[in-house]
Amino acid sequence: MDDKKKMRSQNWFGKTGKDGFIYRAWMKNQGYPADEFEGKPVIGICNTWSELTPCNGHFRELAEHVKRGVWEAGGFPLEFPVMSLGETLMKPTTMLYRNLASMDAEESIRGNPLDGIVLLGGCDKTTPSILMGACSVDLPTIFISGGPMLNGKHKGRDIGTTDVWKFSDANRRGELSQKEFVEAEANMCRSDGHCAVMGTASTMACMVEALGVTLPHNAAIPASDSRRKVLAHISGRRIVDMVKEDLTLSKILTREAFENAIMVNAAIGGSTNFVVHLLAIAGRIGVKLDLEDFDKFSEKIPLLANLLPSGKFMMEDFYYAGGLPALIKELKAHLHTNALTANGKSIGENTDDITCYDTNVIGSLENPFKDDSGIAVVRGNLCPDGAILKPSAATPALMQHKGRAFVFEDIEDYKAKVDLPDLDLDENSVLVLKNAGPKGYPGMPEVGNIGLPKMMLDKGITDMVRISDGRMSGTAFGTVILHVSPESAVGGTFGLVETGDIIELDVANRKLTLHVSDEVLAERKKSWKAPDLGYNRGYAKMYIEHVEQAHQGVDLDFLKGKSGSEVNRDSH
Ligand code: FES
Ligand code: MG
Repeated sequence: MDDKKKMRSQNWFGKTGKDGFIYRAWMKNQGYPADEFEGKPVIGICNTWSELTPCNGHFRELAEHVKRGVWEAGGFPLEFPVMSLGETLMKPTTMLYRNLASMDAEESIRGNPLDGIVLLGGCDKTTPSILMGACSVDLPTIFISGGPMLNGKHKGRDIGTTDVWKFSDANRRGELSQKEFVEAEANMCRSDGHCAVMGTASTMACMVEALGVTLPHNAAIPASDSRRKVLAHISGRRIVDMVKEDLTLSKILTREAFENAIMVNAAIGGSTNFVVHLLAIAGRIGVKLDLEDFDKFSEKIPLLANLLPSGKFMMEDFYYAGGLPALIKELKAHLHTNALTANGKSIGENTDDITCYDTNVIGSLENPFKDDSGIAVVRGNLCPDGAILKPSAATPALMQHKGRAFVFEDIEDYKAKVDLPDLDLDENSVLVLKNAGPKGYPGMPEVGNIGLPKMMLDKGITDMVRISDGRMSGTAFGTVILHVSPESAVGGTFGLVETGDIIELDVANRKLTLHVSDEVLAERKKSWKAPDLGYNRGYAKMYIEHVEQAHQGVDLDFLKGKSGSEVNRDSH
């Protein structure tokens, strides 16, 4: 009886009189016997399934495996949908809606009779959004990722999302026919799951495992591998015990867990999007985290995983090589090994029986895949609040570079000009794309890896220094400076850059400098006007008014922190 009293769900199902009748009676139309309501841990399965989010298209089946585990352990599983964000279809960018989806998850969790939460996420934003929401409630919570697709197979070789950019460039150069282009689509996406390279979805799956909110091996088991179903099943069992142990998110998501996640992200060559999502999650759970932490904690970490886009393998290969636990084991000397994880053991203990089966895929500290890893944070008059670069995806020769800016005022300007034959630029130019930030697009889209002008591609140029206040796809690569803060649309210096200005990048010294005098910039500022985006109502209007800058995690200012799980009033 004592146990039952403790269950939060009994504030609904355990009530007498009219309220209790209403809370139970309508649930019984789904065929649940009366004793399900008598104090069992009620487990909410927060599902981002959607046919418009193909990466999460298998989640209804995955949820059934979670339920098996919950029933088996004596819990009462109840699945519910939340807003799902599909990276490939949603305009103008899913990032605009990450915070909205987080609000959906938060309120759906808090407002319902739930004791523990299983979060199902896969495609890029579906992971951080629902974890952010869950953090603001802080119930016992376990995450299950949907898993990566199997390696794409095209003309005898493995392909993944990173090849999209390569196919597209080859197609623009006239080297790849339209017929083969379309064939490659089907050959790349041939199974359930999210992008198979170390893009943002895989990065997020590794992030939640490194933070400790999943069972070991969450990150890499392919979506179509039966062991993904087993993981869902045992996660379902485990959440019931987590409720009994009151193992809430804030007990797992400590400062140490965030530092571990940053180090693991460096070693896997994770996406730059990791930065804005981890900052936002930290902001919700109440852990202080700064942009500099990403640079500082990745400094001593080499790149261990030989995965696209920094290397050559994909997530399926990563799993067969031992997966994330094998990489974590290799990193043990650096990590906080005592950090608690969802199974009640420490992240260190979880790797005791783990073996690396392929050192070509997962290198060692003595013999890493590359020395450069992680996220470099640069500052200067162009980005006083910082900007980031992923050294492992950049061209070493361009990490120290001075060149003339060629400015695209916004994405429309870019699209109008990029294929023109006579632009005033050469391979030493620095491409600048403005108005791609959180407020300025709005939603900070993945356009920051500014595809090279056709006249450069025709010359065989494959990389140039590029700078924007936007993000880039985790599957993209190049010497790309992203997340310039403050963004151009709020009147930052970045908005004042003109074609012909000299820009100097010095990654070794973490500097990004616009060689234009303060006087000239002040003069330009006088004629600067904030862009009118034409968003005058609805969520986008609220978003633009409240969104914070990239170095703060792009959350809405009023969503920071948590409100706990208490709800005082009944609904009738
Ligand atoms: Fe969904 Fe890449 S498009 S993970
Ligand atoms: Mg992506």
